[in-house]
Amino acid sequence: MNNKVKLQVAGTVCGLIVLCIALAWLIPAVEAPSIEAPSVEAPSKEQAFNLEQFIDPETCGGCHDEIMAQWQGSMHHLSHKDPVYTRVAKFYLQGLTDAGHIAEAESCVKCHTPVGYVTGFPKKVSDEFSKVQDIPAQGIQCDYCHTAVNLSQMYNNGFMLSPGQGEDDPGIKYGPFDDAEPEFHDAAFSKLHTDSKICGTCHNVKHVAFGTDLETTYTEWEKGPYNSPDPEKHVSCQGCHMYQRPGVPATGSTPRPENPGSATPDAKQRPHIFTHYFVGANSGLPQMFSDQEKSDMAVARLRHAAEISLEMEKEHTVRVVVSNTGAGHSLPTGLTDMRQVWIELTLADNDGNVVFQTGVPDKNNELPANTVIFNTIFGDGKGNPVINIAKAKEILSDTRIPVGKSAAHLFELNPTPQSGYTLTARLLYRSMPQKILNQLPGEPIGPLPVVEMAAVTKIF
Ligand code: HEC
Ligand code: HEC
Ligand code: HEC
Ligand code: HEC
Ligand code: HEC
Repeated sequence: MNNKVKLQVAGTVCGLIVLCIALAWLIPAVEAPSIEAPSVEAPSKEQAFNLEQFIDPETCGGCHDEIMAQWQGSMHHLSHKDPVYTRVAKFYLQGLTDAGHIAEAESCVKCHTPVGYVTGFPKKVSDEFSKVQDIPAQGIQCDYCHTAVNLSQMYNNGFMLSPGQGEDDPGIKYGPFDDAEPEFHDAAFSKLHTDSKICGTCHNVKHVAFGTDLETTYTEWEKGPYNSPDPEKHVSCQGCHMYQRPGVPATGSTPRPENPGSATPDAKQRPHIFTHYFVGANSGLPQMFSDQEKSDMAVARLRHAAEISLEMEKEHTVRVVVSNTGAGHSLPTGLTDMRQVWIELTLADNDGNVVFQTGVPDKNNELPANTVIFNTIFGDGKGNPVINIAKAKEILSDTRIPVGKSAAHLFELNPTPQSGYTLTARLLYRSMPQKILNQLPGEPIGPLPVVEMAAVTKIF
């Protein structure tokens, strides 16, 4: 029986539409445990499941203890509870009247609370977040990623799921092994899980009404050298982010050694167990949850992402070059309307007194307007900059540095450096401007940590 016929049979047998959709997607999944290349053009189909079908991450952690400990407190675990996210999301909704703006501002939960979205609550940001059940509140979790069988699109979370029926009948968990035979659940190899696409479908964000590219991490990677057809040179998202562990930053400029071990204390030894810390550049959020280890890992990642150099062009003109040497995508990536990577330049005289400086936050912790920042600025469609992504109709400026590329900037020094003067250029990172944090209602957030990514000094 082909899938179409099966779908019709399922359609006549079951009465509940919700159940039908769930069944319709279960059938092909059982037949095809190894995943074919996802079809990116396929139209987005909305799936619906019962919350009882999803298993608490704690249960998975009962056997997969190390993986659980790594994922716990990760940004994926915190994707729904992250106070920066929830407050920005609720804030963006305020005062909107345009239907397109509202549609976007309501859409965040599809990625940030994905188990809730596919099981009916929350469906939108205006839903009461305090009523979100315990399992969906645990964000992007084991039983969400490991029940994915296909993707409907390469942006805005195109996951097609085939979950089991809860703990009594956990179903198939899809992963990188083709010989796993666990007792609790069934297991199957999934090519999708070894592919950057499984990350990219959420790490490419488009405005739901205007189509504006809000985040393009997957596309940046896809166009870059790490998406090489040569398997020796190909480095997937997992190849950096799921190799990182304390002491092993695993970036493009550092070794990425395998992590031998086992998936449970009793399972067989494997040459590599993919780590689940999912650390990017955010060192502030783990700190808010007292997770110093993940905070340090984010700093380690940032310190192996870029290089900075300086060269005098004229007596008083310096050329500063920043190179993206360690990221698998642009620098910065993700939410680049908020993320700030900038150049700080300091000239000190023979006694160490600062005689010239640029790129230093003012007393309100805001960067001066003339600071060289690598980021994106969205516009409202008429050339006016907007902070609220719900209103983003166009990209006004884009100074992200692509993979392996450099950006050069000239600075005029005043006074002209004399013999014995010291010039220091630093590349700094913080995950959000104070200006946005200050606008959020409620207890103030911040100041967020500023991380030195790279620095260079010249003595005249
Ligand atoms: C964001 C999606 C995502 C989440 C959340 C996630 N995993 Fe994974 N996991 C993966 C991917 C992708 C791989 C395989 C990577 C590859 O082959 O390139 C993997 C691999 C595994 C493996 C195989 C062993 C290994 O690590 O190599 C196990 C077991 C596993 N995950 C269990 C878990 C458990 C338990 C949780 C929750 C505590 C979890 N995963 C959360 C995506 C995820
Ligand atoms: C298609 C999936 C997707 C959707 C939809 C989505 N996000 Fe995100 N969001 C992400 C990803 C991926 C990141 C991580 C990127 C990064 O760290 O730069 C993220 C990170 C964030 C952060 C940063 C959190 C922090 O602690 O720094 C905020 C804030 C945020 N999103 C707000 C929103 C809001 C508001 C909406 C709805 C208007 C939204 N997101 C919709 C995928 C999504
Ligand atoms: C009773 C113990 C136990 C529990 C509970 C458990 N697993 Fe497993 N799981 C295993 C064992 C054993 C393996 C096989 C490991 C191997 O072969 O290296 C495994 C393998 C896996 C794999 C790899 C599959 C493959 O073929 O690549 C994934 C993914 C996975 N588990 C996810 C989960 C998720 C998600 C949960 C919670 C819903 C979970 N596991 C709960 C014992 C368990
Ligand atoms: C279901 C959607 C989804 C999938 C699938 C997904 N992510 Fe994420 N990811 C997010 C969201 C949303 C956040 C931000 C959560 C928050 O606001 O705290 C995030 C955060 C991250 C971060 C931390 C970013 C930072 O600012 O430090 C990293 C690293 C990351 N993801 C890597 C991956 C990798 C690697 C994969 C594939 C194995 C993957 N993600 C799959 C949605 C997803
Ligand atoms: C060659 C190694 C490498 C690969 C491959 C790679 N990354 Fe990264 N990633 C990094 C480094 C280094 C950083 C820290 C610098 C930065 O923020 O760009 C980072 C940061 C991030 C961040 C946090 C960005 C921010 O500033 O908020 C996210 C999200 C992320 N990566 C997701 C992904 C996804 C998704 C993929 C695959 C499409 C991927 N990465 C592939 C090295 C890599």
